[in-house]
Amino acid sequence: MAETIQGLKRTHMCADLGLENVGQEVVLMGWAQRRRDLGGVIFVDLRDRSGIIQIVFDVGISKEVFEKAEAIRNEYVLAVVGNVVKRDAEAVNPKLKTGEIEVKITELRILSKAETPPFYIEEDSDVNEQVRLKYRYLDLRRPDMQKNIILRHKVTKIVRDYFDENGFLEIETPMLTKSTPEGARDYLVPSRVHPGKFFALPQSPQLYKQLLMLSGMDRYFQIVRCFRDEDLRADRQPEFTQIDIEMSFVNVEDVLSINEKLIAKIFKETLGIELTTPFLRLPYQEAMDRFGSDKPDIRFGFELKNLSDIVANSEFKVFADTVAKGGSVRAINAKNCVDKFSRRDLDSLVDFVKIYKAKGMAWIVVTKNELKSPITKFFTDNEIKAILSRMEAEPGDIIMMVADKNEIVYDALGHLRLELARRLDMVKKDDYKFLWVTEFPLLEYDEEEKRYVAKHHPFTSPMDEDIALLDSDPSKVRAKAYDIVLNGVEIGGGSIRIHSTELQQKMFETLGFSKEAAWERFGFLMEAFKYGTPPHGGMAYGLDRLVMLIAGKDSIRDVIAFPKVQNASELMTNAPSEVEPKQLKELHIKLDI
Ligand code: AMO
Ligand code: AMP
Repeated sequence: MAETIQGLKRTHMCADLGLENVGQEVVLMGWAQRRRDLGGVIFVDLRDRSGIIQIVFDVGISKEVFEKAEAIRNEYVLAVVGNVVKRDAEAVNPKLKTGEIEVKITELRILSKAETPPFYIEEDSDVNEQVRLKYRYLDLRRPDMQKNIILRHKVTKIVRDYFDENGFLEIETPMLTKSTPEGARDYLVPSRVHPGKFFALPQSPQLYKQLLMLSGMDRYFQIVRCFRDEDLRADRQPEFTQIDIEMSFVNVEDVLSINEKLIAKIFKETLGIELTTPFLRLPYQEAMDRFGSDKPDIRFGFELKNLSDIVANSEFKVFADTVAKGGSVRAINAKNCVDKFSRRDLDSLVDFVKIYKAKGMAWIVVTKNELKSPITKFFTDNEIKAILSRMEAEPGDIIMMVADKNEIVYDALGHLRLELARRLDMVKKDDYKFLWVTEFPLLEYDEEEKRYVAKHHPFTSPMDEDIALLDSDPSKVRAKAYDIVLNGVEIGGGSIRIHSTELQQKMFETLGFSKEAAWERFGFLMEAFKYGTPPHGGMAYGLDRLVMLIAGKDSIRDVIAFPKVQNASELMTNAPSEVEPKQLKELHIKLDI
């Protein structure tokens, strides 16, 4: 018979069966999750992508089939024919979606035997991740991993439908591209045809999507792999996926609003959550001042307050000197924490901020009758009053202060907020708080390279009112750039682009490129700008990060079918690996290791 497997054709997925199928004969195919032999009856949990159903081999139904079933071991692949029956009340398994029924088997084919797998295939197994990744195909059999991969599919489907409905075209851009400086390190691909020359794998389709706007495509999107040779973290992979977007004739608000509608749709259709739009928009400087971070987690308070003006002339030299040198003194009020943090805990928090290069952390414990603190003795009553009032301190609170260069103060207190919330168990994974951080600085000064580098990328437009500052004070120029932040994770970012050759050239000059160097690298873009360029802008999401957060996971590895590990290798195939000398010769490459 055509189109069958050993004469059988599957009629249902395991977990799609329910009470409505009672009395039907069905054909199922899947893996034996577990076998229980009760002598005369064998129960097998049969698993496929949909879930699990209990199948029953009863010697009373067929001795021959029963004897065959005795050979079944975990992870054998089976095809079975049987009848769906309602379980007796006492046999109902409420934990199983199909727990009210089972299938009495009349025919069995063992399609494939299996060796004992290196770990048990079950939900939430606590197997070491190295082992899971080495046997990723088995790991992906686990229901929770399947759920993640299915969720990812669902999200990309929603994205494609949404952009299609809104007039966007999905257009592919090259994977073999030109290496350009700026940004992360490139993955290079040697050219056989052009000895000594290299392609780079794209860090993003940035330039191509801008050129597509020049081509009049108007609205573009792509779900696209990007490659960056940077150090890995839980939310960073060397290859990751972007939802990449570009639009013509738009301003910042247009981009934000079409994107928050997308996010609202994704959350409604995956988690059933109604998000309120528009999301909060927070200018970068305000985000730093209030949260010490450009990707603030706003699920809890502990906002920073600036105390510099109050302590500038105080007797506490550390504080006064810091302010005099242009730094700042800022603080967090750990509300109602007196009973929660012992003296030892406070010491550990002091050590914690030192991770972020703070030199110390002064504290004031506020109780009904007194203040406990190593530093209040240095302050006048008025200064103390002003500090307590600015911090809105009440009995039970602990004020935590850091004095340093602004960068360090933000970083230390920004992380301290997160640490306090973590220790106090204040963050709920299923509480989703979005915001846009806007008006990022256009440039940041790179101490190592002794020059300005683009904070976002060199194609980002300055804000119109700040263009004049490009000559006088580049560090003050704000950009038409924005990030979308969810629960302290940057899930996406973008900008309105420069669309004039002159301004683009000026930008490259500010970044320290000579005119020649800029044309050598980016000439194709500046040349293109000469032929009629629509104002345009866009953004890109980290799809992996977005799905990770929707799935409630802590690592993007959990939502990528075949991820890489910390040292950027893949444990299953052992890539990267050595290649044949012949291959190197063709590429004109000699190794020097
Ligand atoms: P950006 O570099 O901010 O912007 O990247 C966009 C988003 O991609 C995600 N992301 C990553 N995810 C996993 N692993 C990585 N190594 C990684 N690097 C980045 C982040 C980030 O917000 N072309 C611009 C976008 C634009 O301007 O339109 C760009 O690539 O979630
Ligand atoms: P010291 O004068 O070093 O004994 O510090 C007195 C108190 O001030 C201690 O509680 C220190 O943790 C704190 N302290 C020292 N340096 C700083 C700083 N840069 N910012 C905040 N607190 C500090």
